[in-house]
Amino acid sequence: MARTQKSPRKEVSRPVWAEVSLSALAQNLQAIRKYVNPPEEKRKTARKILSIVKGNGYGHGGPEVALVLEKAGSDWFGVTCTDEGIAVRKAGVRKPILILTSFVPGEETRLVKHDLTAVIHRCEQLAVLERAAARHGKKRVPFHLKIDTGMNRLGIATSDIECFARQLAKCKHLQLTGIFSHFASSEVFTDTAVGQQTREQEERFYAALDRLRALGVDPGIVHLANSAAIVTRPETWADMVRPGAILYGYHPGYDPAEKREEAEARLPVKPVMSLRSRIISMRSVPAGAGVGYNSTFVPQRPSRIGVLAAGYGDGIHRSLGNRGNVLLRGKLAPIVGIISMDVTMIDVTDIEDAAIGDVATIYGTDGNQQLLANFVARSVGTVTSDLLCAVSQRVPRLYVR
Ligand SMILES: Cc1ncc(COP(=O)(O)O)c(C=O)c1O
Repeated sequence: MARTQKSPRKEVSRPVWAEVSLSALAQNLQAIRKYVNPPEEKRKTARKILSIVKGNGYGHGGPEVALVLEKAGSDWFGVTCTDEGIAVRKAGVRKPILILTSFVPGEETRLVKHDLTAVIHRCEQLAVLERAAARHGKKRVPFHLKIDTGMNRLGIATSDIECFARQLAKCKHLQLTGIFSHFASSEVFTDTAVGQQTREQEERFYAALDRLRALGVDPGIVHLANSAAIVTRPETWADMVRPGAILYGYHPGYDPAEKREEAEARLPVKPVMSLRSRIISMRSVPAGAGVGYNSTFVPQRPSRIGVLAAGYGDGIHRSLGNRGNVLLRGKLAPIVGIISMDVTMIDVTDIEDAAIGDVATIYGTDGNQQLLANFVARSVGTVTSDLLCAVSQRVPRLYVR
């Protein structure tokens, strides 16, 4: 089926590529926007979308996907650091870019210079950003405040709100334009402490927000919700939502797992990336002969083994060895043996006519067949974003409509 698929570059090169469907991406954004702006709410202004394009756009190419998402109506972008933010700016994105993991001392100059929105997650960062803003002669350098509401990772403690407000009053060159927090467990709905955590985080966040307002500070845009919260917890939507995984076509792994069907029906999204390679060698292996490093696969019958031009150096999770499958000619072909850095072996004994040059889909869609990255991720005990982000730099991205 996918045998005739074109390779990504005009010049012939190693056949491994990540196909990125820009129409699926734009449709996912539109579906999210519609979902978080139900007409019955009658909001005066539409709830905003901050598209998370950090981690090289979850492996899809940060600047490329940001440009497409900006055209499709994304209001904001979220990256992790100034390097990622500058790359997105240089691609031509004009909308605000939030630097989610904040800045380290010295990095603040680049934030101001490249018109990136800083995140303050420690009170002492205010003075550093203020000095950078003054140095650049800027009057109102925007920033967002991150509150730690119980994840115990990044963000100012809720008890530091007064201290923050006092210090902010001394910063004449800064403007607070947003306030946010991040959920630790919004996909968990079990009757456990973790299942209660989102509700508690939300309560702490709104208490902090009230204190800030009572101190006369305008918090600007209020935002909280990641993918799971967007889909399943409308009460967290606030002024803006921050989709990552669902933008790229995957729901998070809900707990309990039965929640998935309901969530997918509420907000259907389409997988954006398909990781593909071709068979570059094929051999007949007799029963009892070992395949690959350490001979961890020993066929019980005479077998035909295809070799794909992609390995863990390209982003195929090494733990899929002797465990996973690829899609080939509309069928599942088991991955056999240990996955090498550059190649992966598949058993095509049961796939008639499988031949050198055939395209294998490691995950994604192939015609009307799908091998979804979330199932693949779960089978090796990880999350979808881990698989998507792992697609390495040497894999060309092929952007298709
Ligand atoms: C601050 C912040 N918001 C939103 C997201 C998006 O999360 P998800 O991929 O679950 O939508 C992330 C991703 O880790 C994040 O760090």
